[in-house]
Amino acid sequence: MNDASSDQTAAKKPVLPDAQTVTSVKHWTDQLFSFRVTRPKSLRFRSGEFVMIGLMGDNGKPLLRAYSIASPSWDDELEFYSIKVPDGPLTSKLQHIEPGDQIILRPKPVGTLVHDALLPGKRLWFFATGTGFAPFASLLRDPDTYEKYDEIIMTHTCRNVAELAYGQELIDGLHDDPLIGEMVAGKLRYYPTTTREQSAKMGRITTLLNDGTVFDDLGIDPIAPETDRAMVCGSLGFNKDLKDILEGFGLTEGSNSEPGQFVVEKAFVG
Ligand code: A2P
Repeated sequence: MNDASSDQTAAKKPVLPDAQTVTSVKHWTDQLFSFRVTRPKSLRFRSGEFVMIGLMGDNGKPLLRAYSIASPSWDDELEFYSIKVPDGPLTSKLQHIEPGDQIILRPKPVGTLVHDALLPGKRLWFFATGTGFAPFASLLRDPDTYEKYDEIIMTHTCRNVAELAYGQELIDGLHDDPLIGEMVAGKLRYYPTTTREQSAKMGRITTLLNDGTVFDDLGIDPIAPETDRAMVCGSLGFNKDLKDILEGFGLTEGSNSEPGQFVVEKAFVG
């Protein structure tokens, strides 16, 4: 099924190396946007992996950054979720893309936020801050996630309510999804929190784990190595703090070569 023949998906003839065509763009806030591009027919990836994408720089050299693929592996297109940094070398330009534009996409997916890097378990936690939600947008739409676990808990911490919208909309849509809607029902718990604006649940997820609030709110037992597996994606500080917390619960970190009880990856921030 690996069709590596000429790629007919691009609407325009590619003028850049590894060019793909933007098919849609959605701006969620002043600082967040998502976009979809054509998918090279030969690209196979595991949900949760990232690829290098970017634009041609002013100096004629590609300006590339690692972006988690936010779409599931069965999707015809590729979706990405990005921050906009006013003086960020890539995102200051990338935020202005429109349908029909081209971006560069190196078709070599890699990453540790994949099911293969976790040992079997009963409950799977996805811990994200900000645009760290992106790999989980892929994993949440992957039937494997629901086949492998009895319960999935998606936590997302953002500064304000508007920053939760991309994740909230995706979660809402899952229940109506013809492919996985039935699998999601009764298995997926969503636990959004904000830190700088009033919402239903305030506070950093790290604090809420440390004081047990999360477990009380969800009516579940605390995290334990026998039952729980976790994937973490956020800023460096967040990843470090979550790693310490998960190790405190007795979980050990895994990788592609040595599956374990949790895995961590840094969200792109520049
Ligand atoms: P806070 O507002 O308390 O800094 P950022 O935009 O800085 O990447 O942060 C995104 C969200 O992640 C914010 O809600 C922020 O909370 C939270 N956050 C940042 N660092 C950590 C950390 N080390 N542990 C837990 N949450 C964090």
